[in-house]
Amino acid sequence: MAKEIHTIGVLTSGGDAPGMNAAIRAVVRQAISKGRAVKGIKRGYAGLLQEEIEDMEAWHVSDIIQRGGTILQTARCLEFKEPEVQKRAADICKKHGIDGMIIIGGDGSFRGAQRLAEQGINTIGLPGTIDLDIACTEYTIGFDTAVNTAMEAIDKVRDTSTSHERCSIIEVMGRDAGYIALWCGIANGAEDILLPEKYDFDEQKLVNHIIENRKRGKKHHIIINAEGIGHSTSMAKRIEAATGMETRATILGHMQRGGSPTCKDRVYASTMGALAVDLLCEGKTNRVVGYRHGDYIDFDIDEALAMKKAISEYQYEICHTLSI
Ligand code: ADP
Ligand code: F6P
Repeated sequence: MAKEIHTIGVLTSGGDAPGMNAAIRAVVRQAISKGRAVKGIKRGYAGLLQEEIEDMEAWHVSDIIQRGGTILQTARCLEFKEPEVQKRAADICKKHGIDGMIIIGGDGSFRGAQRLAEQGINTIGLPGTIDLDIACTEYTIGFDTAVNTAMEAIDKVRDTSTSHERCSIIEVMGRDAGYIALWCGIANGAEDILLPEKYDFDEQKLVNHIIENRKRGKKHHIIINAEGIGHSTSMAKRIEAATGMETRATILGHMQRGGSPTCKDRVYASTMGALAVDLLCEGKTNRVVGYRHGDYIDFDIDEALAMKKAISEYQYEICHTLSI
């Protein structure tokens, strides 16, 4: 028989992402509407180990749907990879009467969720990361806001680039994943995109492309560089020296992680938060919520983590074709 859940714990883990608050709000209110108690755990797994656990009522999540960041705060907690620490965390959950946990974060956070599930705590993961790099889902909480923030910033850099007839290297977030760079590449009409999954470090090819475009009369040259490639400032100096075209680097940084979530992030995060509660109430555990082909669905966490995701070859190709 499925385990009946009485008290649901919720935490955010890993990098924060706009829309996490909408998800927390949905978890709290859906759980209360189903007669369950909710406890908020501060600062991810680190706060769980420190027993930073508070009861949450409906009013605790008032006025947060429109706010970036996470009211529960977040952390990276390396010691959570150790089995004895995971056991201690499960014992803490049991001590506080938490029999179901909702973990909002990325792949790393889901690995922690798996370990808690093994220790007898029913767990559901929600995909929260601006990187869009979770294989089982076409949507992750925060990506839409982050990519729109980056797009608007790049539009502004493009204006001044055109006025001054400069080359601009704009660095966007994504240490291992190039989705923000790819989407901005298409949305901002960039001449080049450098993605961790694709870049061959052939700077001469970039230089040749800039020179060709200049000869064809292009007034600017926008290069979107993912954080995983990095070194935008030194790259700008080398490119300026090799092309003779004034080149500037702009690193967008953590501005991409903050700000009020877009409508899409609010709606998807709210739906996923409510669904996570429904799944726990059905007795499910070791699941992760995803969005695919127009539906919100759930996967076994082990299977979800084994899935692979790749940058669309077609979108990568058209990014170059459409900026001729
Ligand atoms: P994200 O969840 O965004 O992928 P991280 O990879 O930093 O971010 O993971 C967030 C947290 O999840 C880590 O700080 C750690 O507490 C926990 N975590 C990551 N990997 C594991 C693992 N293999 N086992 C247990 N917990 C993990
Ligand atoms: O995972 C989200 C993310 O913003 C990545 O794009 C980036 O590489 C990383 O987090 C930055 O982490 P930190 O905030 O620790 O510098």
